[in-house]
This record gives sequence, C-alpha cells and structure tokens, in this order.
Amino acid sequence: MTTRVLGRTLIDRERIRQRVRELGRALSNDLAAALRDEGHDPQDGEGDIDRVTMLPVMTGAVVFVADLIREMPLKLSMSVVTVSSYPGQATRSKGAALRGSLPDNLAGRHVVIVDDILDSGGTLELLRAAITEQGAASVRACVLLNKLGVPKKPGVLAEHIGFDIPDEFVVGYGLDFDGFYRNLPDIKILEER
Ligand code: IMP
Ligand code: MG
Repeated sequence: MTTRVLGRTLIDRERIRQRVRELGRALSNDLAAALRDEGHDPQDGEGDIDRVTMLPVMTGAVVFVADLIREMPLKLSMSVVTVSSYPGQATRSKGAALRGSLPDNLAGRHVVIVDDILDSGGTLELLRAAITEQGAASVRACVLLNKLGVPKKPGVLAEHIGFDIPDEFVVGYGLDFDGFYRNLPDIKILEER
C-alpha cells in the first residue's frame, strides 16, 4: 500500500506573497484596459465601472483568491463555483464536473476564473464554455500554478499564471489531498512512500 507524506517545500510563503502581488497588478491592468476599450474610465472611482466578477473555483482557490483580490484596486464582485475533479484520494484528474450551478448573472461581465492549479485543463474548459454561453463580455483565467509535462485539453490556457511547476502532486496554500493540508502556508510536494 502506498502512503503519502509531506515532502519538501516547492514554493515558500514569501515567494507566493510576492508573486500574488504581481499577479494582482497585472490582472488589474489587463481588466482596466478591457474597461477602457469599452469607453469607461477605470480611474473614475466608484462610477459605473462595476463590471468585473471574480469567480474562484471551490475549494482549492479560497486562499489564493483572498490574497489576490486584496492586490486589485478595482471595483469588483465575487461569486463562487464548485468543480470536482479529484474525488477523495485521487492524484490524477477523474474528469471535471460542475457541482451545483454557475451564477446566473454573468452576462455582460468581465469574468475572471481563479483556480489554484491548471493540470489537465478540464476545469477551465468546462467553466469557460459555460460562462461564454451566458454572454459574458470576456473570460480570463488566473491560476497560481501551472503543471508542466501534463497533457492539456486542446486549446486550454490561462491568461495569468503564477508559477510553472513540474508534474508533482502538491498541497498547501489551498491545495488539498483528500481534503487536508489546505491550511499550510507554503506549497509542498506530497511524496509517495
Ligand atoms: P484540471 O481540471 O485537471 O486542470 O485540474 C484542476 C484541479 O485539479 C484543480 O482545481 C485542483 O483542485 C486539482 N489538482 C490538480 N493538481 C493538483 C495537485 O497537485 N494538488 C492538489 N490539487 C490538484
Ligand atoms: Mg480545484
């Protein structure tokens, strides 16, 4: 029987903090440009510029999105969506499935899907299609981690990526194994023994 134990730290809390700050700035600039393209002035304070919706994917993105939105000086709202692809003790995707429903007020909005990690791409593929179907003004994906060396669904990409990582199963900073380890402040490799 394989048991899994916490291994070495792949990305420590200080590197995460710095990178999340950069991501928040880049994402905000990107969204501000999209708003300007529509003739809005994003510097216009409160105004009518409330068209951005952050959509974190439960449960892995909770820690990331909490830090990310505090680095975004924009008027924005947030809704959540639940997608399951790693039931129980799985460490390979079993295929993404929406649990519950997508928010139904995304038409005309600039939607940012926020996820902890891009692996096979099933989650992003599913969500992007559903959000586009609702008539969103634009859809972006912002992921903290991108797993390299894993076959991705064709055409799947994330516009904003924190770190490219090797094909290892990682936990911490929101990422779990069988529901545990989300509370670790650093991102660690889960080793098989
Ligand atoms: P995808 O749909 O295959 O791209 O997988 C994305 C989802 O799988 C993420 O939202 C995570 O919940 C989960 N996942 C993928 N790789 C890992 C990992 O190394 N650790 C923890 N969760 C992971
Ligand atoms: Mg997830």
